[in-house]
Amino acid sequence: MALAVRFHDQQHTIDASHSFFDDTLAGLSASPKWASPKYFYDLRGSQLFDQICVQPEYYPTRTEEAILERAADDIAAIAGRDATLIELGSGASRKVRLLLESMHPSHYLGIDISKEFLLDSTRRLAADYPWLDVHAACADFSHAMTLPEALDDARPVAFFPGSSIGNFDPAAAEAFLLGLHALLPPGSGLLVGVDLVKDKDVLEAAYNDSAGVTAAFNLNLLERIRHELGADLDPARFSHRAFFNEEQSRIEMHLVSDMPQVANLGGKRIAFQAGETIHTENSYKYSVEGFQQLAARAGFSVRALWTDANDYFSVHYLERT
Ligand SMILES: C[S@@+](CC[C@H](N)C(=O)[O-])C[C@H]1O[C@@H](n2cnc3c(N)ncnc32)[C@H](O)[C@@H]1O
Repeated sequence: MALAVRFHDQQHTIDASHSFFDDTLAGLSASPKWASPKYFYDLRGSQLFDQICVQPEYYPTRTEEAILERAADDIAAIAGRDATLIELGSGASRKVRLLLESMHPSHYLGIDISKEFLLDSTRRLAADYPWLDVHAACADFSHAMTLPEALDDARPVAFFPGSSIGNFDPAAAEAFLLGLHALLPPGSGLLVGVDLVKDKDVLEAAYNDSAGVTAAFNLNLLERIRHELGADLDPARFSHRAFFNEEQSRIEMHLVSDMPQVANLGGKRIAFQAGETIHTENSYKYSVEGFQQLAARAGFSVRALWTDANDYFSVHYLERT
């Protein structure tokens, strides 16, 4: 297979291993303890997330995909042909396939923190769509981003599916959108998938699948901390916990210490009490209006909105004003 993907490494990814160590040390030294969800995604983390997407309890992926399939022609009519489609957190680059035939963009840029998985996914995309000019950039989208020079003259449409925006707290989500506002020229599109508030049982089941894949995904973070950062800690002594915090309108994921124990990271002693947790992820759930008000504050107006029959998930076509 020809390697038809143009790869762009961004400066800050070169320092990524230092950030992982520094962030993890800061998080495990804090009270309460925390870790950033962006570190879930080494190759195994990306593969586990892919498996989460097909668990029967995990409604977001299949619901968003059904919406995109139904809306593809309308999305294409707004975006126009020959755009540059920029996917943030592109993962398996699967959802974008639902848009490509209708939108017929000239260029695709997948941006993801998980390098091996990104390269593999974009290579497969390039092989399946030979008419598409495919680019990949390993970058952390929570830092300021730049577009590769090769795409300087492009007419960008950003695509941010999977309700990844929900991993930021609302203030950080607004700051993230302000960053996109600075990156994109006026009139650019932003197609964003946002998970909606719903019944607590449906939400909690989605993050506690019976096959234990989300648990393995959460615990994989400790495997990474052990292998990559040389921490002396035993992932088998922790358990997965996920619940809906109604007051904050967010699913919280934690790793619970099953016993009193002491870990060691970079020579620093980290003590856990039995039942103490590391808060590893938030996934905020919005109302349609709440999200659109947030987007408006960051300079994005609403062109179109699609939801499913249950109002479980929303896809918004926003325009950079
Ligand atoms: C929840 S998954 C969504 C994957 C895919 N877009 C989907 O909708 O199924 C989040 C994706 O974003 C990537 N990611 C997470 N944090 C990131 C960051 N700070 N910068 C770049 N990519 C990130 C992960 O590697 C992963 O592929």
